[in-house]
Parts: sequence; structure tokens; C-alpha cells
Amino acid sequence: MTNLSHTLDKYRIEFESRLQAEFDSWDHWPETLRKASAHSLFGGGKRVRPILAFLIAASRGASVDAVFPWALAVELIHTYSLIHDDLPAMDDDEMRRGRPTCHKVFGEANAILAGDALLTQAFLIVAGQVHESRTSQSLVKLLSESAGGAGMVGGQIYDMSGRLEDLDQIRSMQSLKTGALIRAAIEGTAILLDVDYEDQLVYRSLGDQIGSLFQITDDLLDLDEDGNDDGKNLINHLSIAEIERLRDQTAESARAKLERLSGQHDDLLAFIEFIRIRTI
Ligand code: IPE
Ligand code: IPE
Ligand code: MG
Repeated sequence: MTNLSHTLDKYRIEFESRLQAEFDSWDHWPETLRKASAHSLFGGGKRVRPILAFLIAASRGASVDAVFPWALAVELIHTYSLIHDDLPAMDDDEMRRGRPTCHKVFGEANAILAGDALLTQAFLIVAGQVHESRTSQSLVKLLSESAGGAGMVGGQIYDMSGRLEDLDQIRSMQSLKTGALIRAAIEGTAILLDVDYEDQLVYRSLGDQIGSLFQITDDLLDLDEDGNDDGKNLINHLSIAEIERLRDQTAESARAKLERLSGQHDDLLAFIEFIRIRTI
């Protein structure tokens, strides 16, 4: 097995430099919009979703170049979602990743517009940089479904709607809010690489498992941060030991999905383990 942290660093650096080059080409954007967008785009994100796309490409012998437009589109949507999530009308957060949030530095109107511009740019990237038109159409559809009302935005609505009554409601809110975009990162990569339809379905379900794993570990990490009395953390219905058992079963299900797919999966397996035990 290769050294995971070396592999992750390599992919992170590859993503950052391609993202910077891409951002530099948006030089026709108004300066304030560029600054507000750059604040959040280059704000120290872990790049989990692009790294998943790169790892899947590598596992099938494809290049980073082949999947970069998709990795970028998903990260742009993720970044917009965080800018809007931090706004006073939503979570009203002043800090993200150890820095002031976008609206704290640039004001609410500019933060809203930076989010809008990043969201829109994601679709331009897919439409403009995925040249096979049937693939581009499938990816636009997937991005719309996973980011929109039946996906991430829908999950945010449930999140904002007050206390959730039971474990099922919390899990379905989480699978929309966080899971849909992580699943899309994985499923869209499979579509872009033109894997056969049966395998696309396995990747989709792998994406579900990894999205769920990511959110379960997020809830465990959040236990240190706040009181979790908002009724939206798994801790409101499960003990820590039960959450850890759910986490381990979910990681095992993800590994089982990978076994059904052809390719070299050592790095992906190591990344699943990295998510399972993550501390950031
Ligand atoms: C944070 O996502 C918000 C959730 C979806 C839980 P990440 O933890 O991937 O955020 P960054 O981009 O690394 O800061
Ligand atoms: C972040 O959700 C926004 C989305 C996933 C769309 P959270 O509010 O749960 O995450 P943090 O704590 O702000 O990163
Ligand atoms: Mg938030």
C-alpha cells in the first residue's frame, strides 16, 4: 500500500494548482466578487470531494485531468453551500476553518452573490469542459438533483426547520444535506469515466455509504464543540458507543461495495479508513 498522507498531499496540491489556474481565468468577474469568492475557495478546505474523484480515477487507471472538471464543479457547489450556510439568516457563523466567514469580511450581499456565482460557475464548467454531450447532460442532471431541492438544499431546509423528531428524520436530513453531494462526487466520476451502468449503480451506493460515514464522523467531532441540544445530532438518539458501531458498520459496507468493483483500491480503502477515524 502506498503512503496515504503522501497520496492525499499529492492530490490536494494537484487540485489547488488546477483550481488556481481555473480561478485566474475568471478575470472578467468584478473584483469584489473575485475577492469574496477567493476568500472561501482558498480558505483551507480539506478537498474531500475532489480527492474522492481523483482516487476513483486512479483506481481505474484514469488521469486527474480526466475528472478534474467534475471534481471542480462539486467543490464549487460545496464552497457556495458553506458561504450561504454561514449567513446570519442560516447558521449565523462568524468563523469557518479558523478564519472569519465570507460575509464577515465582505458583507452579506457580496457573500450571497459569491455563493450564487460559484453555484452557477459549476454548471458552466460541466457544460463547457465535458466535451461528450451525453455525458455532460448526465452530469448536469446529477449536479442539479444532488445540489437542489431534492438534495443538499432540501437537506438544509429540514436542518433549518427546527428539532427533528426521531433518528430516521435526522438520518434522512443528513443524507440530503451532506450525503447527496459526496455521493455525486463519486457517482459523477464513474459517469465521466464511462463505466458500465451496473457499476455506476455500485458507485452510487458506495457514494451513499461514504457520505453517511462522513456525516457520522462529523457528528462525533461536533460532540466536542457544542451541547448538541438542537435535536439534529445522532447523539440525541444514540449513545456514543452506538454511533461508533454505526460508523464502523457503514465503513464496512463501503469496503464491501468496493470489492464488487474492478480496479486498484488500496488508496480508496485507506481513505475510507482516514474518514472513519478522522479528527478534522
Ligand atoms: C463541512 O464539510 C460541512 C459538511 C458537509 C458537514 P467539509 O468538512 O468537507 O468542509 P471543508 O471544505 O473541509 O472545510
Ligand atoms: C454545512 O452544514 C452546510 C451544508 C452541508 C450544506 P453544517 O452547518 O452542518 O456544517 P458546518 O458545521 O457549518 O460546517
Ligand atoms: Mg453550519
